[in-house]
Amino acid sequence: MALIYLTEAQLKEAIDLKRIAVMTSGGDSPGMNAAIRAVVRYGIKQGLEVYGIKRGYAGLLDEDIEEMTFASVGGIMEKGGTILRSSRCPEFVRKETRAEAAKILKKHGIEGLVVIGGEGSLHGAMFLEEEQKIPVVGIPGTIDNDIAMTDMSVGVDTCLNTVVDAIQKLKDTATSHERAFIIEVMGRHSGYIATVSGLVTGAEAIIIPEVPVNYEELGNKLLQERERGKINCIVVVAEGTASAYTVARHLEHRIGYETRITILGHIQRGGSPTAFDRLLASRMGVAAVDALMNGESYVMTALQGGKIVTVKLDEVLKEKKRLDMDLVKLAGLLS
Ligand code: F6P
Repeated sequence: MALIYLTEAQLKEAIDLKRIAVMTSGGDSPGMNAAIRAVVRYGIKQGLEVYGIKRGYAGLLDEDIEEMTFASVGGIMEKGGTILRSSRCPEFVRKETRAEAAKILKKHGIEGLVVIGGEGSLHGAMFLEEEQKIPVVGIPGTIDNDIAMTDMSVGVDTCLNTVVDAIQKLKDTATSHERAFIIEVMGRHSGYIATVSGLVTGAEAIIIPEVPVNYEELGNKLLQERERGKINCIVVVAEGTASAYTVARHLEHRIGYETRITILGHIQRGGSPTAFDRLLASRMGVAAVDALMNGESYVMTALQGGKIVTVKLDEVLKEKKRLDMDLVKLAGLLS
């Protein structure tokens, strides 16, 4: 369903919601602060009390909860990370732990919860509503872009810009020294970051979990390019496929380049969010509050064809987002 901001009349009809809470959970992603700010400011403007839960589900279990104000989210939009902090909370896979969490939410009078995070965090939210009847709305926040039914998650665009900037810099030194660089990027089980960053930096090869790699063929191709006069070589590898060290071991002796390895690591999760991520997060934060006020929960906000919509959590989580193979083809076509 497409979301619009609630009109005065709709607001009167909206369910009598008084207090909601917001949390960030799992791996942080740039733009989470903009989403928190939107939930808090729009929620307060709609007459709600908005609480912040610190350190994700772990903080909820510790009752690390405090009321947020207009001022408490001032000046955070441009900041990387999350002011609410985050955690991975393996205990939350247990039903008893979720029951405990629901008790705490009820004790604090929290009638609706906005969870900003990736797949694991959204699963936690889904179970909280299914088992404990806590109304939840998810906002997809992850650099991996592996959440189904949304074109983009909060943080993907900033991450891509960070990776592209790093690859560009490595390309400079690769050219000066006529070297190959094997660059390992994040993405857990998805090749999205590797594919897009490799595509837009003109990498010679992109190695991703979705496409089997034949090192012999790849080595021959890179060697031929070298023999034709190419003086640098960029290979981007997604962490879910193989480590950059393994790729280097397979390729180095075949390609005739001196080789260096760079693992970009957590630098990909930091930094000031791009305009795109700030806008996406702001739109999704408002949509999440609208959904709760409208009595619509068990949903995730999503970007579909430029519009912010809500989609059912169980449908989102039923399957992994598949990598768009047209992107893979495009990268192959242009390299
Ligand atoms: O899901 C985001 C992500 O950055 C993945 O790309 C990566 O595999 C993982 O988190 C790393 O997690 P952690 O920060 O817990 O090591």
